[in-house]
Amino acid sequence: MTTELTKSSGWKSLESHFQEIKNTPIRSLFNEDKTRGTRLRVEDLGIYFDYSKHRINDKTLELLFQLARERGLADKIASMFSGEKINTTENRAVLHTALRAPRGSVVLVDGVNVVPEVHAVLERMASFAGNIRSGEWKGYTGKPIRNIVNIGIGGSDLGPVMAYEALKFYARRNLTFRFVSNIDGSDFAEAVRDLSPEETLFIVSSKTFTTIETMTNARTARKWLLDKLVNPKAVASHFVAVSTNAKEVGNFGIDTHNMFGFWDWVGGRYSMDSAIGLSTMIAIGPGHFYEMLDGFHQMDEHFRNAPFERNIPVIMGLLGIWYIDFFGAQTQAVLPYDNYLKRFPAYLQQLTMESNGKHVTLDGELVGYATGAVYWGEPGTNGQHSFYQLIHQGTSLIPCDFIGFKTSLNPLPLHQDYLMANMIAQGEALAFGKTAEEVKAEGVPDNLAPHKVFEGNRPSTTLFMEKLTPGNLGKLIALYEQMVYTQGVIWGVNPFDQMGVELGKVLAMKIIPELLEKEKLLRHDSSTNNLIGYYRE
Ligand code: F6P
Repeated sequence: MTTELTKSSGWKSLESHFQEIKNTPIRSLFNEDKTRGTRLRVEDLGIYFDYSKHRINDKTLELLFQLARERGLADKIASMFSGEKINTTENRAVLHTALRAPRGSVVLVDGVNVVPEVHAVLERMASFAGNIRSGEWKGYTGKPIRNIVNIGIGGSDLGPVMAYEALKFYARRNLTFRFVSNIDGSDFAEAVRDLSPEETLFIVSSKTFTTIETMTNARTARKWLLDKLVNPKAVASHFVAVSTNAKEVGNFGIDTHNMFGFWDWVGGRYSMDSAIGLSTMIAIGPGHFYEMLDGFHQMDEHFRNAPFERNIPVIMGLLGIWYIDFFGAQTQAVLPYDNYLKRFPAYLQQLTMESNGKHVTLDGELVGYATGAVYWGEPGTNGQHSFYQLIHQGTSLIPCDFIGFKTSLNPLPLHQDYLMANMIAQGEALAFGKTAEEVKAEGVPDNLAPHKVFEGNRPSTTLFMEKLTPGNLGKLIALYEQMVYTQGVIWGVNPFDQMGVELGKVLAMKIIPELLEKEKLLRHDSSTNNLIGYYRE
């Protein structure tokens, strides 16, 4: 199948260039150009972005930038920032960038400047967070709140969990934070088993306030609270909501004075810096939260203004296209060398895969090329002792993003040096490997030599920063958000809807009464009928 993208001259040039370069080892690229490691890097916003260990040369970059220009990336970036309704399937603007726009700036949606509303919500959040942190906000029986439980799923959970873990160093340690997402009752039961209802605040986070998992968990939470506190009036002191749907919040029984709003121009997976970040703000305090927003904003400005040749999200996005569409890579590993970022890969899974896991273009045509990669990863060095074997010597090409910080937040003697040495070594080993000659020169017997050869030529990016701060986390998240948009533009898909999650939800709603035997007659395929029958028994 040929489509507008694959017919474009940029794409065709990349196809023929791919044939020229596909077998060139990274090793020779470095041998030919002693300045490569210096040239192919960008230092901006306190990020050292090294993209030299990729299977690219100057021509590859030139052609990738040409493709970006042909796809109108600059205009598409401008359209997003200006509030055009680029989420065409849902007829919505896409303005998570307005969530971090500084006070006083202007972002228009349907002629209305949304920045004052954004800051009004931030101020309410800051005041609420301050009251919880100071103990001024009391539970129904007069005790201060010590436990905060965020109930949400997808974008209403993954961002808050990730940010809490990432910024735990900055968090109030006398407050306990828990996150309940799964409809599996064990998630709720384990989250609250050692908590006292009198000291617990639930933040029910749901953009739509109709998501079955969140609503079920929220109802269970209310029951858990009232089993102890009895009077339904207690709900007002122990439940707040974060949502765009005031009507449903009211229907649930949460006073809308205790609701923090956001807007339909914020996608769920792009919402962790909206009121969905309320738990984050309570944990780290408003000051740190504002620092995080500033980091996001700095990256937004970089994405908007830096020429493609120095634009970190654009380069990262285009490298992804190069591997996914030309080398046939299907996955992308994200390997943070900082334990606080342990939930970052999981967060990125929704951001990247729910955004670009699409099979049709914006016009509804089937794409004739691969789109979104599978994102996955674990912190280093843990991953080195589990799945890195396959990255080094397996048969799949897996581009890797290494993320590291020079200064540890917990500087125990030697730990940081060892950690960073490992991160740097992994990129080197992946790129340069170890040849059969090198293995033999070490005296390895012939029969073992093939097992000890590392082909190398495995690409990686290194993102190095000074320290894991709220601001740097903001930059990192915005970097991936904008990388996702870059790729969506090239592929011509809509990175802002998620229709692929609907069918399973609809079928589950049909199966629920069948499991409860309210609907006796089963009309599914034989496998599904049998599974339902097995459960019923
Ligand atoms: O099912 C997918 C999804 O719609 C995500 O896009 C979203 O982040 C999540 O569900 C939760 O939705 P809500 O915040 O409306 O509960």
